[in-house]
Amino acid sequence: MRAPAGTRHRRLAVPHEPPTPPPRKEAPLKIGIIGAGQIGGTLTRRLTALGHQVSVANSRGPQTLTDLAEETGATPVTSSEAARGNDLVIIAIPEGRVPELPADLFAETPDDIVVVETGNYYPRERDGRIGPIEEGMPESRWVESRLGRPVIKAFNNIHARDLMEAGKPAGSPDRIALPVAGDDDAAKRMVLHLIDELGFDGVDAGGLDESWRQQPATPVYATNLDAAGVRRALAEASPERPAEFRAEM
Ligand SMILES: NC(=O)c1ccc[n+]([C@@H]2O[C@H](COP(=O)([O-])OP(=O)(O)OC[C@H]3O[C@@H](n4cnc5c(N)ncnc54)[C@H](OP(=O)(O)O)[C@@H]3O)[C@@H](O)[C@H]2O)c1
Repeated sequence: MRAPAGTRHRRLAVPHEPPTPPPRKEAPLKIGIIGAGQIGGTLTRRLTALGHQVSVANSRGPQTLTDLAEETGATPVTSSEAARGNDLVIIAIPEGRVPELPADLFAETPDDIVVVETGNYYPRERDGRIGPIEEGMPESRWVESRLGRPVIKAFNNIHARDLMEAGKPAGSPDRIALPVAGDDDAAKRMVLHLIDELGFDGVDAGGLDESWRQQPATPVYATNLDAAGVRRALAEASPERPAEFRAEM
């Protein structure tokens, strides 16, 4: 079963108005975000609005992030700076550009830092051929192998606009649910909690070896299901990668 036609390739402009956040009751997290485009920029806007301390990086350098910094209060940094001194690091760059990240990105980062990756593999329109993924490795397992750090897969299946605008208080009918896959239960709990703060139900989608269940073209991809729907969709996913999500021969 696949996502409905017309939904999977939709690219969205970053919207401008985050929802009004509730007052913070807990200590803010220190969050580094690498990638300041549609998904990284949206997470920067939402997470700063929730009161978290966000530092954000792109490929061109902090001097190109002054507008986003002024808008949100986030601190513009280099990727290496975003990777250290934080509780959580979010990698929100195109899959094909992951190998460009510094080889020693996490050299000064404690082992217990939580690393989230939001990526999706679009070989034909953006990322080029990534051999291990073509051979069946889950996309986030490949990212993990490049980063040399365990990753949690999250936020990959929701459009940036919906991440910005569609959050609802816990218990609301039709609250959108987001799958979270990863091997470290404590790290996963932190991400599930953050997802709840952002206005979505988090669904534990199992270990990273199961994370193909939320990749592009699966039933949970860009379909904005509720928690029951996400659980059903994860169970119904097929491991077969459709032709349009394989590199051209
Ligand atoms: N767009 C969505 O709705 C959405 C939703 C869920 C998941 N995703 C996935 O999330 C990932 C990012 O997508 P996106 O749509 O946010 O992409 P995007 O709008 O094209 O933004 C990409 C960002 O990554 C930065 N970047 C690229 N290479 C980098 C490097 N080597 N070091 C540091 N920063 C680097 C870019 O910085 P520069 O501009 O300076 O190069 C830019 O800020 C993709 O894998 C995508 O499939 C996207």
